[in-house]
Amino acid sequence: MKLYFNPASPYVRKVRVTAHEVGLTDRIELIGISLTPVNPQDGLRASNPLGKIPALILEDGSALYDSPVICEYLDALAGGNRIFPATGAARWTALRRQALADGIMDAAVLTRYEEAVRPKELRWQQWVDGQFLKIRTALDVLEGESLGEAFDIGTLSIACALGYLDLRFPGEDWRTRRPRLTAWAASLGKRPSLAATAPAAS
Ligand code: BEZ
Repeated sequence: MKLYFNPASPYVRKVRVTAHEVGLTDRIELIGISLTPVNPQDGLRASNPLGKIPALILEDGSALYDSPVICEYLDALAGGNRIFPATGAARWTALRRQALADGIMDAAVLTRYEEAVRPKELRWQQWVDGQFLKIRTALDVLEGESLGEAFDIGTLSIACALGYLDLRFPGEDWRTRRPRLTAWAASLGKRPSLAATAPAAS
């Protein structure tokens, strides 16, 4: 399998962490790609019409996208029920947390594009403030949850969202006034799947 990849993308990191967790890393070849909404890549769009990463190219040449689908595919390929709880409250909690973490990533990546790609004279501070309100409100909700020790698609996604905030918004200091979330994130620090996929600016 081939995975369209960028070392900064938190969505790609979800897939790579999942592959590590379920033991499929060796079956995935990474194809590096650099893209923004104003720098589309034709090769990628041929596989994913939305032109977004991650996209996973399967052995038969077909493609899967985006991160929730690819992560669940890898989990199933490895036998299932590894990072996607199969049924019950644990499943719905994990899926809701994945949605919350993906929403943090969406707001953060859109803000990154606004600040790093959009011409200065076109930037809209009120819009950026609106994205940060989403991020901060979501982090406050996570501060109030018992994230516990289970490393599933929900907690894995939260770890990737926090890693992206640290990479692109170091001045945000999300740890201040969120001691439980801070301690939880620190407790994950040595997990091999997270250490092996630490995000990097590209
Ligand atoms: C980034 O450079 O921040 C980035 C790159 C790819 C996808 C998302 C974010």
